[in-house]
Amino acid sequence: MPTVTIMPSGKTQEVPEGSTLLAAIQAAGFPMECKCNTGKFDSCHIFLLEGKKGLAKMTKEENERLENMIGVATKSRFACLATLGTEDAKIELLGALSG
Ligand code: FES
Repeated sequence: MPTVTIMPSGKTQEVPEGSTLLAAIQAAGFPMECKCNTGKFDSCHIFLLEGKKGLAKMTKEENERLENMIGVATKSRFACLATLGTEDAKIELLGALSG
């Protein structure tokens, strides 16, 4: 099972392969309100610090939505659309959840 390290707290959460980063964030106790699982509300925007190769590829739609957001960098993902494989990941929460 992959482990997700959630910054800036450094809390870790193990989740089954095939889980989204959003599932890992919520399982770790962080209250992400949006549960749409579509990326349409931009509310689960996170930075992926490590583990890019272990995640499912970004879809064209996710890439376009991220490009339209102000200040988005290449390490951006929507947590609800980023599915984990077998490798660990390290992410950074943004906005109100960043501490
Ligand atoms: S869960 Fe709604 S945008 Fe990701």
